[in-house]
Formats: sequence, structure tokens, C-alpha cells
Amino acid sequence: MKKVISSILSPNFEKDDVSLSLKLVFSPGRWKKGLEIQEMERTFKEKFNLGDCFSFNSGRSCLLAILQAMNIKKGDEVIIQGFTCNAVVNPIIKTGARPVFVDLKSDLNIDEKKIEEKISPRTKAVIVQHTFGWPAEIGAVKGICQRNNLYLIEDCAHSLGAEYDGKYCGSFGDVSFFSFGKDKIISSVFGGMLAVNNRNLLNRIKEIYENSPFPSSFWIFEQLIYPFLMEYVFLPLFRFRPGRIFWSMMFELNAFSLRSVTKEENQGILPSSFGKKLPNALACLALNQLNKLEKFNEHRRKIAWIYFKELKDVAVFSEDFGKRKPVFMRFPLVSDKSALIISEMRKFNVFLNDGWRETIIVPPKTVQEKMGYEKGECRLAEKISKNIVSLPTHIRVSFEEAKEIASIVKSLVNKR
Ligand SMILES: Cc1ncc(COP(=O)(O)O)c(C=O)c1O
Repeated sequence: MKKVISSILSPNFEKDDVSLSLKLVFSPGRWKKGLEIQEMERTFKEKFNLGDCFSFNSGRSCLLAILQAMNIKKGDEVIIQGFTCNAVVNPIIKTGARPVFVDLKSDLNIDEKKIEEKISPRTKAVIVQHTFGWPAEIGAVKGICQRNNLYLIEDCAHSLGAEYDGKYCGSFGDVSFFSFGKDKIISSVFGGMLAVNNRNLLNRIKEIYENSPFPSSFWIFEQLIYPFLMEYVFLPLFRFRPGRIFWSMMFELNAFSLRSVTKEENQGILPSSFGKKLPNALACLALNQLNKLEKFNEHRRKIAWIYFKELKDVAVFSEDFGKRKPVFMRFPLVSDKSALIISEMRKFNVFLNDGWRETIIVPPKTVQEKMGYEKGECRLAEKISKNIVSLPTHIRVSFEEAKEIASIVKSLVNKR
């Protein structure tokens, strides 16, 4: 491939997003307060048929607000699936509650049949993650929550625009949250949206939102300059080994906002930069991306079909979607050649290591014990995490490139 292809190097940004972010760098009056925040929240609510929406500076900030609104505290338990990001676990730990892990099904979503055995008198909520844009069996989980008087939280960080049974993901839970992180369905570098479908939680969430500060001006500046740096510095450098070494060094230092998850988060600590409102400048970026959602998701679906054609034997998702309309944030494969695929594809400028492998709570440097995970609790998740590799579906991968990727990966999968 002539250009660098990677799911984690801000693949959603196009030229118009880069120029908008640069324009915003020079308009500090629009950084914190502004009309676009309400516009984004209103548009989101209407477009996806959700309850009232509140924007925060990340999905994890939304989740923290949700748990606080539910008065979840020390001694409580929150059910969550194995194979998730530490960004989901850390807000639970922050409240003092205990995350309780439930194993997966082969589609990387929570196994609803295993939820009830993990419910205890201390359980307060179940978080359902629609992994990589493939909707979970949300109807069944909703029934379990209703029968057991538990809150249902939908984690839609990967599934903006996905549908289950004709309804958008995010419209089933008591509350749901979305992410506009760098590698998500749409991106404002950092950002998130919280939707309140259960009106009993509305006042409490409104109060938490109103009492949350904006991030600092420096933090906002770092995010605004990021699309330009990625497009004109890091992506071009990434083609060359010294450039990649430079990138890794900057990543280690968390310079230029390169990391989505910090070193302290790998240790179970939620940094103080979260728990903040979405600033107006990032709402502008998010709105610009939201306008392109249909284009992005249609592209992802077409790319997924290219991969299905060549790789259905190792594909995680089924070609029969049932009640689902997935969005394929990525296209995961499970193969004992996953490590080989990752290393060989680098030679073609395709960087497949997205951090979603090796461990139950990703990224792999996450200290699993600090997350409250005990080895053996989620056996299928452990097995899959060893052999998973996900192919890119984003707007910067052309159909031709996807065909090329599929055919090279196929030959690697079949290698003896
Ligand atoms: C499944 C999942 N949920 C929630 C989050 C948190 O979103 P954010 O990065 O916006 O905090 C992430 C990503 O980090 C994620 O992958």
C-alpha cells in the first residue's frame, strides 16, 4: 500500500476536518462555550431517537456521570463483559464499586445466558457493549435487567448508527453513552455523548452535567492541533522506521495527545482530565463528522462485504445479521496466524495492532489484577484475545486496498 493504513491513527479525519480544527485553533473565543454544544446534543437526540443528551469530553466521562447518577458506590457491583477497554472499567473502580466480568459469545458480545449467575444482591447495573459495531442481544439483556431490577447501561462507543430490531443502539438502555474518540465511528479526537432514556435519572444527570467543568484551554488546544499533526507529521513519518520510533517515543511520553489511554489508566486510575464537559470547539468537530455518518457507515459495510467474501472462515461476525444492522467499526478475525498477519502486514504499510488483543481488559499493558479480573473468569474471552486481529473498515481504506488486504491476509491464514 502506498499510504499508511491503521485503525488507530485517527482514520476518520478528512481534509475538511483538518482545516476546521485549524480554523478553531485560531478562534479561542469558541473553544469552551458556544452554540454547537446544544446543536450537537439536539441533533443526536433527534437523529437516533434517544432521550435527552448531554455531551462530555469522552465516553469514560459519560460513564462516570452515569454511575454517579445511579448512586453506585463502594460495596456495589456492576456487570460488564470480558474483552473490554480499561476506559470502561476505570469509571466503575473510581466509584468504589466492583466490576464483575461475564464471558463472551463468539461474536465478542456479552453472553446473556451467563449474566444471571453473576447477579448478586449487590449488583446495581449491567453494561452492554456492542463490540466493534455488532449489536449485542440487547432485547434479552433488557429482559434480564427488568426481571432483576437492575439498570441497563448501553456502551455504544463502537456502534454509532448501528441498529437492532429496527431501533438504534443506544435507545434500549436506561442510559447509553457514545464515544467520539480518535478511532471510533466518528471522531472529535476526544468526546462523548450520554443519552438518558429513563426519565427518573434525568434530573440527577442534568445536575452532574451542570456541575462538571470544561477542560482546560491547554487540553482543548492539544486536541485541536492533533488532526493537523496527525495528517502532516505523524502519518507521513509512520511510513519509515525512524518515524515510527519517533512516534513510539512521543506516544510513551503522551505528547501531542497521542495516547487514548494513559499509563495511569493501565494501573486502574482515571485521570483528572476526565469528568469534564465537551468543549464547544470539539462539538464543532463532532458535528462536522456526524454529518458524514451515513457515508462513513455505508463505506464500512461495503468494506466488510469485501472481507466476508475472502475471509468468512475466520471472520468473527456472521454474514447472517439476523435482527442486526451492524456498522463494523472494525472487522475482527480469529486465527492462530494473527501474530503472523500483524507482522507481515507491516511490510505493506498496514498496521493492524489496534491494542484489542492479548488481554481481557485492553490495551495489553493494562494490569489485569488492578481491574479486578481474575484469570479463568472469562475463558472464551481469554482464548479469543490470544488469536484476534481486526481489519480496518474506515473511510481512508479504499475498496481496492481492502481487496488487496483481504487477499494477502487470506494467503497468510492459509499458510502452513
Ligand atoms: C468499548 C469501549 N467503551 C468505552 C470506551 C470509552 O470511550 P472514550 O475513549 O471516549 O472514553 C472505549 C474506548 O476507549 C471503548 O472501546
